[in-house]
Amino acid sequence: MIVHPYSRPRRLRKSAAIRSLVQENHFHATDFIVPLFFMEGEGSKEEIASMPGYFRFTLDLLLQEVKECYDLGLRSVLLFAKVPDELKDNTGTEALNPDGLMQRAIRAIKKFHPEMYVMTDVALDPYSSNGHDGIVEDGEIVNDPSVELLGEMALTHAQAGADMVAPSDMMDGRIGFIREILEENEFPNVGIMAYSVKYASCFYGPFRDALDSAPGFGDKKTYQMNPANAEEGLRECALDIQEGADIVMVKPGMPYLDMVRLVKDKFDVPVAAYQVSGEFSMMHAAAEKGWLNLEEAMFESIIGFKRAGADLIASYFAKDIAKLLKG
Ligand code: PBG
Repeated sequence: MIVHPYSRPRRLRKSAAIRSLVQENHFHATDFIVPLFFMEGEGSKEEIASMPGYFRFTLDLLLQEVKECYDLGLRSVLLFAKVPDELKDNTGTEALNPDGLMQRAIRAIKKFHPEMYVMTDVALDPYSSNGHDGIVEDGEIVNDPSVELLGEMALTHAQAGADMVAPSDMMDGRIGFIREILEENEFPNVGIMAYSVKYASCFYGPFRDALDSAPGFGDKKTYQMNPANAEEGLRECALDIQEGADIVMVKPGMPYLDMVRLVKDKFDVPVAAYQVSGEFSMMHAAAEKGWLNLEEAMFESIIGFKRAGADLIASYFAKDIAKLLKG
């Protein structure tokens, strides 16, 4: 039988050599952002129950972790503080403490590992007695007072030495407000990675265990996006870029790869994707049951982000992958 036209796509899959020659997408350790959790105390780390092999560190051990990441070729970290319960209140007072856990962590990392690019989470939930990303008044998450607080919070991160702040709160207008505060206080070079397309997702469950930050009432649907919407995400990106975002992010990752592609095609700023805690945990759970090969699942999921158009990828697999890449 003769195949017409003489096109046989399998020719380009015949051997490892030709497959690698025609491979369209690649990733490197430098594409990753490593999310790091930390807590008060000394000399200890706690495994997060729903995130096998992932830890919360005290600051001394956090510094070791940062060094290990750097030595593996990773170049950026995203910081999340676990705030003691007694310091939480509705207006996130502790978030502005220049000597708070987050601010101390930023200073320590920049002092001991100045080459590591430090990004910080800006949102109220780890500091809020209500577990919400903004201030609560009469059961409502109020936008403008929250934005003012988030601006002040971002400023304390910049003052502590953060390279980039990453507002994950989804309040309206916060990017412009933060940009203005940073400019006014002479931090023109502190960047903003906006969580622009952030959905109200069940995949954040394990992260909320890690920081003990689950909402105390209700859900986050009045500020995070409806998973059914795509165009709305493009409007969010347009606003954030106009307000001064340097990088826009899509989150979660795997269920929203269409959004990564749409954003990449429409805008000309770098696009980050966040492979969130639930994505990490579900792959681990399947692997523990013997249903998936974890290493292969990890690589396949990451190349999927690249294929979709992600420039940067925040992932709890970053360190594992960097190790494997190093061989
Ligand atoms: C907080 C924040 C969340 C995540 C990052 N920043 C949780 C949330 O919005 O409830 C989720 C990250 C993950 O699940 O890995 N604003």
